[in-house]
Amino acid sequence: MNPTLICTIPSPSPIYEIAMRRDCLSNPGVFMRTLPSLRQRVAVVTDDTVALLYAQHICHHLVVSGIAAELCAFPSGEKSKTRATKELLEDQLFARGFGRDTTIIAVGGGVVTDMAGYLAATYCRGVQLIMIPTSLLAMVDASIGGKAAVDVPSCKNLVGCFYQPSKVIIDPSALATLPLRELRNGIVEMIKKALVADPAYFDFLETHVEELLSLNAAVVDKAIFESCRIKKEFVEQDERDCSKRRLLNFGHTIGHALEVLTKFSLSHGEAVAIGILVESYIAERLGKLSNESLERIQTIFRSYGLTFRLPEQYSIKNMCEAVLFRGQPRFVLISGIGLPFSYGMEVDKAVLEDALGWMNDVVCFN
Ligand code: GLY
Repeated sequence: MNPTLICTIPSPSPIYEIAMRRDCLSNPGVFMRTLPSLRQRVAVVTDDTVALLYAQHICHHLVVSGIAAELCAFPSGEKSKTRATKELLEDQLFARGFGRDTTIIAVGGGVVTDMAGYLAATYCRGVQLIMIPTSLLAMVDASIGGKAAVDVPSCKNLVGCFYQPSKVIIDPSALATLPLRELRNGIVEMIKKALVADPAYFDFLETHVEELLSLNAAVVDKAIFESCRIKKEFVEQDERDCSKRRLLNFGHTIGHALEVLTKFSLSHGEAVAIGILVESYIAERLGKLSNESLERIQTIFRSYGLTFRLPEQYSIKNMCEAVLFRGQPRFVLISGIGLPFSYGMEVDKAVLEDALGWMNDVVCFN
C-alpha cells in the first residue's frame, strides 16, 4: 500500500490598507487613529538616521498612548542589510522578551522595510508587520507587496521571503528631509511604473517636473498614489513574481550589471534609469518601440536631473560579462509608453552588444 493524503490549506488572501495620510507623523492624534490594532508589544525597527528624524517620535507617541513600544535601530545604509544585522535584531528582541504577540513597525527607507519585513516574517514564525516608509522609493515600492530580503556578499536580496504587512502608512511630508539623490531614486521608480503600466501617468510625470522636484504637495501626493496603485494591482495579480510583477524589473537586467560594475557608486535609481534607456533602445532596435518614444524616455530622465554618468568607460566585453554573469539575461521590453510586450525576453548577444555600445557612445560619454 502506498497511502497518500492530500493536505489542503486554504490560504487566506492578505488584504491590507495602503493609507496615505499627509502630516500624520507630526500629528500624534491622527497617527494613532491611522494605526491598526496592535499586538501586546511593539518593536519600532529603524536605522540610526531615521531614528533621530522620525522613529523616536513615533515610539514616544506610542508609549504616551500606553503602548509597550521600544526602539530597535541598526546602522543606516545598504551595508547593514545582512543576515548578521538580522541576527543582531533578533537577539535584541529575544533579550527584551518579545514573543509571538509582537508588532514590528518598520520606519525608514527600503533597507529598513526589507530588513524589518524579513525579521517579522521569521521572528517566532511570523509577527504582525506595519510599514511606515520614509523614502520615496520605499513609499512607492519597497513597503508594498511583501518582498523582504537581505543581501549576501555575492548578490543583493538573495535571502528572503514574501511576507505581507498588515498596513502601510505613507506620510509624504517625510520627503522634506530626503536628500535629492534619494528623491530621484524614487522618481525613477515612478517613471518605470508609468512606462510599464500607464501612459497618462507618464504624461503627468512629464508635465510636473518642477512641482515634483520642489515637493509640491498636491503633485507629490498624486504621483505617489498612482505609483502605489500600479504596484498594488501588479501584486494582486502576481504576488509571487512569476509573471506580471516581473514587469517591475524593467531596466534591472542592465541596471544590476551597472551597479555591480561600478561597485555601487551609482545609486539604484541612477543605474536603473540607464538600464531602462538601454532596454528601451533594444526594443527600438527590434522594431517594437518608436524612436520618438525612446527620445521621450531619455528626455524625462534628463528633465529630472538624471545625467546617465558612469564613473568610467567600460569595454563592451566587460559590460556584456556583467550582464551575462547570472546566466542568459531576460529583458522586460515595451512597445510604447505604458505598453509592455514582454516580461522576460531573451535577446541576441549582437543586439545586446550594440545596445551597450549605444549606451557608451551616445548616452553616457557623448
Ligand atoms: N520591487 C519590485 C517588486 O516588488 O516586485
